[in-house]
This record gives sequence, structure tokens and C-alpha cells, in this order.
Amino acid sequence: MSEEWSAYYNLTKDNPPSKTAAVAAELFGDKCGQVLDLGCGAGVDALYFLSKGWKVLAVDANTEYLDAVREEMPIELQQKLDICQMTFEQLHIEKVVDCIIANFSLPFCNPRYFDEMWREIVQGTKPGGIFSGVFFGNHDDWAKSMQEERTFHTSIEVKALLADFEIINMNEEEWDGTCCGENGEAIPKHWHIFRVVARKEEK
Ligand SMILES: C[S@@+](CC[C@H](N)C(=O)[O-])C[C@H]1O[C@@H](n2cnc3c(N)ncnc32)[C@H](O)[C@@H]1O
Repeated sequence: MSEEWSAYYNLTKDNPPSKTAAVAAELFGDKCGQVLDLGCGAGVDALYFLSKGWKVLAVDANTEYLDAVREEMPIELQQKLDICQMTFEQLHIEKVVDCIIANFSLPFCNPRYFDEMWREIVQGTKPGGIFSGVFFGNHDDWAKSMQEERTFHTSIEVKALLADFEIINMNEEEWDGTCCGENGEAIPKHWHIFRVVARKEEK
């Protein structure tokens, strides 16, 4: 695992669940199902759904951190948490799921593979199921320097991605803040993101 992600996991491991993940969970009320966490990182959102009784499949290119957390869990929880090391560029969703969450992760997909990955996500969400996650906007600092490696969208493009979904929430946010450097240091960064919660149409 790269130093960069290791520092990020240590910084974020005790965070509360992402806003979009919390809204998605709320939409299901007491009902539990199968959730797929794409780019699970330290597992904050995956463990939140697990604590609510959901079955969780956590996917990331770097799974060592969450693998180690799982080892320490009671067996009943381990049985409900599957972890799969897979890149977004190779994403294959074998079984449709009730809910897909993807926070601050999908934009790390190489733009040449993004559409293919997104098709998997749309097909992998049950009709009536929920997608919730974050996209990076085209005004983000990284859009200037990392267009070859990471994927950025305009508001219109995000709406187009969600053509098969009813948008429940879509919030555009821009602010000057920081991101996590390789050693956990704070690096100034202009953020531009879209937080999205959407329900797949029942066709
Ligand atoms: C910014 S972190 C977000 C983690 C978590 N969702 C959160 O909100 O804290 C992005 C995650 O995406 C993963 N990632 C980055 N590029 C990836 C790729 N091409 N395929 C799969 N995972 C990737 C990283 O390993 C990292 O865990």
C-alpha cells in the first residue's frame, strides 16, 4: 500500500460516516440489504452499514488496512463483511446490490476507464436501489494537473451520469481547504465536489 493512502487511512479511520452514506442508510429505514462500498479506504462507511446489520462488500485497490480491521472483529461481523481488492479500472460487479456507496473514490478512476466503470455501477444497482457518493468537479485544483489520471465532471455531466436514476440530493460544494499529503501533512487545495444520493428507476 502506498504511503499516501496509509497516512490517509490513519487520519480518517475515526471519522463519522460520510454525509451521503448516512443519507443512503436512512432511506432504507430499518430494512437491511447488501451494500457495496467502492473505494472503501479505512472502511468508515462500510463499518457504519455493518453496524446497522447490512451485508457489506468493500472494494478498494488497497485493502490491507480494512483486512487487518476485519481480522479483529467478532466472527458474526466477519461473516457479513467481504473485502475485495480490485481497481476501478477492472471493476466487475458480480451480483446486483441494494445500495452502492462511493465517497471521494470514483474520481480516482483513470478517465479512459470511467465510463466502463460507471456502466458496471448502473447495472450493479438493483431497480429501486440507491447510489450515493461524491464526484470531483471541473474547478477542483487537481483538474488542472491530474486530468490524465483522475476524472472530473461538470454539473451537467453528473446529471447525465444519473440518467437512469431519480436524483434525491445533489449538492455542489466549492471551498479552499486542505488535502492529506504523503506523510499525513495538510496541503492547501481548492475543492470542488458534487455529493449525490440517487435512486435507480424501477424499469
Ligand atoms: C480518498 S480515499 C476515500 C476512502 C473512503 N471512501 C473515505 O471516504 O474515507 C480514496 C480511496 O480510493 C482508492 N482508490 C484510488 N484509486 C483507485 C483505483 N484506481 N481503483 C480502486 N481504488 C482506488 C484508494 O485506495 C482509497 O482508499
